[in-house]
Amino acid sequence: MGIFSADVNSLRELYLTTMEHALNSERQIAEKGLPAMIEKATNPQLKTAFSRHLEETKQHVMRLQAILDATEGEATEAKCKVTAALIGEAESQVKDAANEEIRDVVLIAAGNQVEHHEIAVYGTLRTWAELLGESEHAAILDKTLQEEENADAVLTELAERLSVAAPVA
Ligand SMILES: [Fe+2]
Repeated sequence: MGIFSADVNSLRELYLTTMEHALNSERQIAEKGLPAMIEKATNPQLKTAFSRHLEETKQHVMRLQAILDATEGEATEAKCKVTAALIGEAESQVKDAANEEIRDVVLIAAGNQVEHHEIAVYGTLRTWAELLGESEHAAILDKTLQEEENADAVLTELAERLSVAAPVA
């Protein structure tokens, strides 16, 4: 089911299609984005923050998979182009970073962008779950949303400290 195909004609279908994209997004982050960010990060606190969020992200994959398995029989995924683009952009900025300090700042900024996208998606999914009467889904989606917001806040706090260490000009 693609988001621009003509067969999305109800909120429930839109909800499931969006969740299929979210599942793929989380999988890209768990399998590609965060492992690379952990490897490229220099500051130990930043490495730890990414590692902790990787463990949470694996849970996010499993939660979405469980909801989709229960609803669709077997979870289907739809390629999330936004996350693929965010990861691609981060990769090229990391390549351009000429020193470790700037690279860490790049990684934090990329992490914040991914988290903001996820926060928007989970906020939407939680609202739709409530409207569809899926209160159990809404509670699970809210739990993930809280973890994404926390990850964003941890990165923002690190950004304020580590950006000071980076060369200004
Ligand atoms: Fe996540």
